[in-house]
Amino acid sequence: MRLAKQLAVIFVTLAILGGGILIFSYDVIRFEWTSFMEQQASFRAQEQPLPVPALSIPVDGPAFIPNLGAPTNPVPPDEVSIARGENLFAINCVMCHGITGEGNGQIAALLENQPANLTQDIVQSKSDGSLFLTLTNGVTDRMPPLIENLTVRDRWDVVNYLRTLHSAQ
Ligand code: HEC
Repeated sequence: MRLAKQLAVIFVTLAILGGGILIFSYDVIRFEWTSFMEQQASFRAQEQPLPVPALSIPVDGPAFIPNLGAPTNPVPPDEVSIARGENLFAINCVMCHGITGEGNGQIAALLENQPANLTQDIVQSKSDGSLFLTLTNGVTDRMPPLIENLTVRDRWDVVNYLRTLHSAQ
């Protein structure tokens, strides 16, 4: 009988202690512990990346550095580049801009802002570098940035392909 009582006391004591610890582990009572991972210059999901530090040199070929203007196209518009560009255009752009680039892709009708007609002078008169930046950064609230889908070389290939698009008429 005495043993049972002693065991009960030990059990209840352990249960209370254990329960006390669990309260903390499940954040029922929460302490803001210092976490050094949080104390750094970083950007969170959906936030703009930090600006490129001054005097940085892109290791991945020409890229956009704020205040340096549009880059010049380093990729000659040869057959290989245009063929690659056509392929990438079919994968990344056709759903909005259409096979002929006239802004009549399959999902265009569902968009609030109509995709640009890429055969028009207003687009074709822009410099290669300007088109490159449009693909890189997208158009705010209208066209997604493609910097994560297309490498630097890919984007120049697409720009070279865009030059081959002409109005159907
Ligand atoms: C989600 C749909 C969508 C996709 C995908 C898309 N675009 Fe666009 N794009 C748009 C819309 C909408 C506009 C019109 C923006 C505006 O009203 O200025 C646009 C505009 C443009 C312009 C003209 C920008 C200007 O400054 O006049 C170019 C060039 C362009 N897109 C190229 C591309 C290329 C190349 C791709 C694929 C790599 C692509 N877009 C993928 C929707 C899209």
